[in-house]
Amino acid sequence: TEGGSTDAKRDAGERAAEEAEDGFVVGLGTGSTTAHAIRALGRAVDDGLEIRGIPTSFQSRELALEVGVPLTELDAVDGVDLAIDGADQVVDDPDVTAHGALIKGGGGAHAREKLVDAAADRFIVVADPSKLSDRLERPVPLEVRPDAHTVVAERIRELDGEPTLRDAERKDGPVVTDNGNLILDCAFGPIDDPDALATRLSGIPGVVEHGLFVGLADATYVGTEGSVEVRRY
Ligand code: A5P
Repeated sequence: TEGGSTDAKRDAGERAAEEAEDGFVVGLGTGSTTAHAIRALGRAVDDGLEIRGIPTSFQSRELALEVGVPLTELDAVDGVDLAIDGADQVVDDPDVTAHGALIKGGGGAHAREKLVDAAADRFIVVADPSKLSDRLERPVPLEVRPDAHTVVAERIRELDGEPTLRDAERKDGPVVTDNGNLILDCAFGPIDDPDALATRLSGIPGVVEHGLFVGLADATYVGTEGSVEVRRY
């Protein structure tokens, strides 16, 4: 997504890439912050690091191929050692149970991201400070089957949410995900209990995946002026 400091994103991404070790299978997230991690992994591979990456989107696959990170598939490995992925919003308040909960899907890749991030022994979020918030309040992206978008939208309104079908900028018509589905961005206002909302959203037929990531992240690496702050959960 646009916005946030490029330096902060680079610092966070490059610091997270340093966690990759020889023999690791690494989940490659999506977005501009993770792109810095993928580029750093490519340089490390040039220097002899032996890893295999699992891309979470067309975008991360293309970048990994460009910078020379060898790729594999989720169903071809015994496990994922490390996943590095960005976020659109991160709860940053150690006093609340939702500390470390995320909203993802700004790039429409959250279904595959959740699959890979959740499979990882260790999932590191990379972010700049603009992503941190007391609570989640951005619209929650829902990937929905194309034939389900109107009935899902109705269910979202019943939950007091406001759904918007995501439109493509340079194409007439909606955004189509890597999986051939549509995206409903659902505004709920401030989300006091992300876990409860996640359960409700998962229960709606036609929802392939929602962008609430609760209890999945192990740490967030936040790029700040010249250093990286680490939040562990
Ligand atoms: C992709 O669907 C999102 O979940 C991204 O991970 C998120 O939008 C982060 O992007 P930036 O690192 O570009 O802000």
